[in-house]
Amino acid sequence: MANQKIDYVFKIVLIGDSAVGKSQILSRFARNEFSIDSKATIGVEFQTRTVVIQHKSVKAQIWDTAGQERYRAVTSAYYRGAVGAMLVYDITKRQSFDHIPRWLEELRGHADKNIVIILLGNKSDLESQRAVPTEDAKEFAQKEGLFFLETSALESTNVETAFLTVLTEIF
Ligand code: GTP
Ligand code: MG
Repeated sequence: MANQKIDYVFKIVLIGDSAVGKSQILSRFARNEFSIDSKATIGVEFQTRTVVIQHKSVKAQIWDTAGQERYRAVTSAYYRGAVGAMLVYDITKRQSFDHIPRWLEELRGHADKNIVIILLGNKSDLESQRAVPTEDAKEFAQKEGLFFLETSALESTNVETAFLTVLTEIF
């Protein structure tokens, strides 16, 4: 892996309300780690992971920013060059789902029009606290032409699939 030739570099951005689990989804994908006392992100961070798709090595460069307005970085720079986006809400927080249209609007206003977008309902391990029915999200995603999955960064459910769905579609 050390001297592996990279065929493609794809920039992917994570967006959504604070505390929905964006940083933990990234940490699960990039390092297979999860932290229960994850701190709110300040500014912008990114991590990479290289995967093989159709015999080509694809380096995913995944950008993560703060959901909290006051900690967010310059919007246009964040979206520049992004070919994929993950729009995240928390299945136990209705408000985080209700805000998705706003995030989508910001994304569509700043990103390339061909960007591949996936809607992610995170924290699927907290089924007993669910506040967003899967059907509602599925319907919204269909209407807006987005991919959709429910994930759990904690249990590692669908995180890999989410990234591979986006990367394969970009590819
Ligand atoms: P900001 O950086 O403020 O925008 O928040 P964020 O979206 O990056 O959230 P973060 O990843 O920091 O996670 C917030 C909290 O939710 C932390 O306590 C995480 O441990 C927890 N969390 C993240 N993903 C999951 C999950 O899949 N299941 C459960 N039960 N908790 C999760
Ligand atoms: Mg964060």
